[in-house]
Amino acid sequence: MVRMPHTDRMTDADRTTPEHSAPTSAIAVCCDSDRATPRQRADELARHLALPRADCASRDYPLLLAVTDDRLELRQTDSADGAVFCEFTEGRFGYRRTLPLAHELLARAVGFKGQPLDVIDMTAGLGRDAMVLSLLGCHVTAIESHPVVSELLEDGLRRAGRDPETARSIAGRLQLVRGDAEQYLAALPTGTLPDVIYLDPMFPPRTQSALMKKELRALARLVGADIGDGAHRLLRAAFATGCRRVVVKRPRKAPDLLIPGWPPPGARFEGRAARFDVYFPAGVGAT
Ligand SMILES: C[S@@+](CC[C@H](N)C(=O)[O-])C[C@H]1O[C@@H](n2cnc3c(N)ncnc32)[C@H](O)[C@@H]1O
Repeated sequence: MVRMPHTDRMTDADRTTPEHSAPTSAIAVCCDSDRATPRQRADELARHLALPRADCASRDYPLLLAVTDDRLELRQTDSADGAVFCEFTEGRFGYRRTLPLAHELLARAVGFKGQPLDVIDMTAGLGRDAMVLSLLGCHVTAIESHPVVSELLEDGLRRAGRDPETARSIAGRLQLVRGDAEQYLAALPTGTLPDVIYLDPMFPPRTQSALMKKELRALARLVGADIGDGAHRLLRAAFATGCRRVVVKRPRKAPDLLIPGWPPPGARFEGRAARFDVYFPAGVGAT
C-alpha cells in the first residue's frame, strides 16, 4: 500500500513557544478564491494560527498567508519577490529531482550509499532537503517549529501526495512533526536513535546577501535569522542524543559551529553557496 506523507503534532505540553521575529501584527491570512472550500480553509487557518483575516489586496501587512484554489502561499506585500510555497513536483524542485540525487552533496554528507537511512531533520523549513532524502529512500522525520512554515510544508506534502509518482517514490517515508526539535530529541525513546541528525539553521544575518534565494529571504522574515545561539543549541541537542553522525548546512564561508567538549567537523562537502559539515560526535566516522 502506498502511504501518503503524514504529520504528527507534538502536544502543547511538549512544545515551547519558539521566538519568532515576525510579530503576529506582521502577517494575516487571506483567500484568493471565490470558492467556498478555500474560504473556509482560510477561516480555519486564521483561527488555528490566531492570525487576522485580510483581503489579498491589503497592504496593511507585510506578509500574507494566502489560500488559493491550488495551494497555500506566503506573499510579501512590500517586495517584488514572488510568492513562496512548497512545490515538490514541478518547477525548480521538479527539475532537480530528475537529476541523480545520490550525487548531491547532501546525500554524500549524510553518508548515503544506496541503502535507506533513518534521518531526523531538525529544521524542516520548506522541506526540500527532507524531500531529497526521502526520494533517495531514506526515512525522514522532519521537524518544524514555526506554525506558518509547518502549514506551508504540510500543504506542499499534501499536494505532493496527490501526485502518484511522488507518492510512490517516497512511499510514506517523510513524516512532518510540528514542534521544537530540541524537545523532540530530548524525548527520543532509548533505542530509537536515527542514523543521521541533519540541521539547516537560519543563516546569520550578515550572509543574507542579495544572492539569498527568495524562499530563504521570506523564511528569514517570518522565522527570524539566527542572531543568538540557536544553531549552537540545535547542534548541542543533536550531540546529546548520542547519534553517530550529525550534518549541518552552513553558508560556504561561515565559521564552523563548535561546541566546547565536542569534536569539530570531521568532514566537509562544499558547494558554491553552502557547505555541509559532518560531525562524528563519538569521535570516529567514515565519509
Ligand atoms: C533554513 S530553514 C530550513 C530549510 C530546509 N532545509 C529546506 O530544505 O527547506 C530553517 C527552519 O528551521 C526551523 N527551526 C528553527 N529552529 C527550530 C527548532 N528548534 N525546531 C524545529 N524547527 C526549527 C525554522 O522555523 C526554519 O523554518
